[in-house]
Amino acid sequence: MSHTILTLPGDGIGPEILASARTVLDTLGHFEYEEQALGGASIDLHGTALTDEVLDRCRASDAVLLAAVGGPKWDTTDPSKPRPEQGLLGLRKGLGLFANIRPVRPSPALLDASPLKRERIEGTDLIVVRELTGGIYFGDSGRDGDTAHDDCLYTVPEIERIAKVGFELARRKVTSVDKANVLETSRLWRETVTRVAEGEAKPLDHLLVDNAAMQLVSRPADFDVILTENLFGDILSDEAAMLTGSLGMLPSASLGDRSGPGLFEPVHGSAPDIAGTGAANPLAMLGSAALMLRHAFGLENEAGALESAIDSALEAGLRTADLGGSATTEQATKAVLEHL
Ligand code: IPM
Ligand code: MG
Repeated sequence: MSHTILTLPGDGIGPEILASARTVLDTLGHFEYEEQALGGASIDLHGTALTDEVLDRCRASDAVLLAAVGGPKWDTTDPSKPRPEQGLLGLRKGLGLFANIRPVRPSPALLDASPLKRERIEGTDLIVVRELTGGIYFGDSGRDGDTAHDDCLYTVPEIERIAKVGFELARRKVTSVDKANVLETSRLWRETVTRVAEGEAKPLDHLLVDNAAMQLVSRPADFDVILTENLFGDILSDEAAMLTGSLGMLPSASLGDRSGPGLFEPVHGSAPDIAGTGAANPLAMLGSAALMLRHAFGLENEAGALESAIDSALEAGLRTADLGGSATTEQATKAVLEHL
């Protein structure tokens, strides 16, 4: 059976790393591709970061593979102007992708590439489970003269469904992260997650987000699933990425209720400063393709083979610029293919 992958190269280094993913995917199976514009690329074409047509094409696909959006060309603080990020947020909301899964497992070869000491990060194998369609990202917002506001809103069903995903993915325990000492939404979060945990076999603990930020660098190997709301998950996952040595290493999967396609994208952005130079690290993009093979198509063997090939290529010395080396995107792609 052939799967249709809707590809969204987006902006900056996006097209370069997406090309790398397609090369690698083509050695693993037969896939049909359809490419569409998102983010700045779509603003240039249509004046909006996500058109209804592209959203419909995404809905009709088996999986959406996205590279990155954004860039200085479209940077603005004017609320009446379109921003590339609106495309990504519109896609997440439009496809109902409430569960963002960001696995953080430093490749053994990169244990010395992290700014943290090897002894600290050894054994780290955690998953950030981030709520993706609620909270402050999607609350009412606005500006009135010298005043601006962004409302944070969560409902019990929204918290319940993401908490269940957290427990499904947990191997040892769930650590729920909130700011229940200050925020009402966090107190509802804590109560609701605690209630969901009563029907689960795995233990639950709670951390306040400021404390979690500290624990994540002082004892990362103790975490299993970090379950948290949209904004806290955004911040903590960038922090967690540095455990792997580079933001260029972290893949992600965004899933909904399974009635439609999932979205697979690297956690990093469009790196406009190195766009077009051929120096981008494609490994987070390739890791995201592996997550797509696993979560969208059930191709566990192929997903595992790709992940091992990434590890082996690093073991054999592959280092792109972000990891202190000089390998190009093309060389990195070749190195992974050699180990596949
Ligand atoms: C991410 C990104 C996005 C987010 C931006 C580009 C809107 O930082 O996926 O983590 O904030 O969710
Ligand atoms: Mg982010």
